[in-house]
Amino acid sequence: MSETWSGKQGSPTEAVRRLGVRYPIVQGPFGGGLSSTRLAATVSDLGGLGSYGAYSLTPDQIVSLTKELRTLTSKPFAVNLWVSDHDPGGRDMSPEDFERAWALFEPFYRELGVPKPERPQRYSQRFDEQVEALLEARPPVFSFVFGVPSATLLAECRKRGIVTVGAATSIAEAQALDGAGVDLIVATGFEAGGHRPSFLARAEDSLMGTFALTQLVADRVKAPVISAGGIADARGIRAALTLGAQAGQLGTAFLACEESGATPEHRAALFSDKSHHTALTRAFSGRLARGLRNRWSEEMGPRVPELPPFPIQSWFLGQLRPAAIKAGRTDLISLWSGQIAPNLKHRTAKELMESLVRGLTQDAVR
Ligand SMILES: Cc1cc2nc3c(=O)[nH]c(=O)nc-3n(C[C@H](O)[C@H](O)[C@H](O)COP(=O)(O)O)c2cc1C
Repeated sequence: MSETWSGKQGSPTEAVRRLGVRYPIVQGPFGGGLSSTRLAATVSDLGGLGSYGAYSLTPDQIVSLTKELRTLTSKPFAVNLWVSDHDPGGRDMSPEDFERAWALFEPFYRELGVPKPERPQRYSQRFDEQVEALLEARPPVFSFVFGVPSATLLAECRKRGIVTVGAATSIAEAQALDGAGVDLIVATGFEAGGHRPSFLARAEDSLMGTFALTQLVADRVKAPVISAGGIADARGIRAALTLGAQAGQLGTAFLACEESGATPEHRAALFSDKSHHTALTRAFSGRLARGLRNRWSEEMGPRVPELPPFPIQSWFLGQLRPAAIKAGRTDLISLWSGQIAPNLKHRTAKELMESLVRGLTQDAVR
């Protein structure tokens, strides 16, 4: 591999410089237990930015995760959180509403032999508590979605030398992040796998593709732009660079690698013809997200108005997940995937990284 990636102009991009990486390659973070320290460290070691999606972790877990990543790699990595941790009505639920929601889930729990769960104290972690731990743990990069952190928090990051990366799904969101002084902006097109991290307008009203969004954002913000959504090879990163981005963020292509936290069944589905059919739906978590179509998305998609808000919907389905995975039931769990999945080729992060670096450093088309 070449020593330092050089853009067409013969110098590394500002994004590469700010992130402290060798190549304009970011492994997108995966929330909900699908990240792994091995995946993030492998990508970082090979010159990209490895990331870990930590939004479901407790503050203590965030501290130990960051320590572990530091022992696994000497290179920069990102720890990722969700700024907005609940939607309206999603922080708590009355016993009556809990029972109403339970009635929707009961047939599926029965089908998998899972007992009715107790009404919990909390349905998710709180961003305010997580971020205190993150400041203490001081990862090299803090990436986030679903909002703009407070000015105080961004100032604390700057004081500690933590580089900040925020995600935008529209021009207005990119300008809000830029105005707040966020260091880099991920322009996330609707091709992307996982959640649509919109925070100003409804996600359904923020469905711009990566091609348009990258150009629109790059022309309007000071911060370097990272393109995400629909990129799975060096050709895709080169395209993003041509459109004004300074790096490419790949999610689905890394999720499909054996180092990720995805189950073998999920990975197999990504490499199968099932990957031709993704859907954007609120049926899995209460927030709009892209995954492979399955029985849950098809049966519950039309019933979204009846489902509880994020994160309560996610919590109810989360209680079913271990039993569904144990039984190999991919019809009742989320199988997150972006639209580019049919083009996936690599089964390990090392192979994928080597192919990306080859394609960026040699004069290859892909
Ligand atoms: C399973 C899954 C979970 C994700 N979780 C997060 C997350 O917690 N935080 C985040 O910033 N992005 C998250 N993303 C988005 C990815 O980091 C990345 O931006 C996106 O997958 C890029 O699009 P692609 O899938 O077309 O490559 C997730 C994506 C997937 C597929």
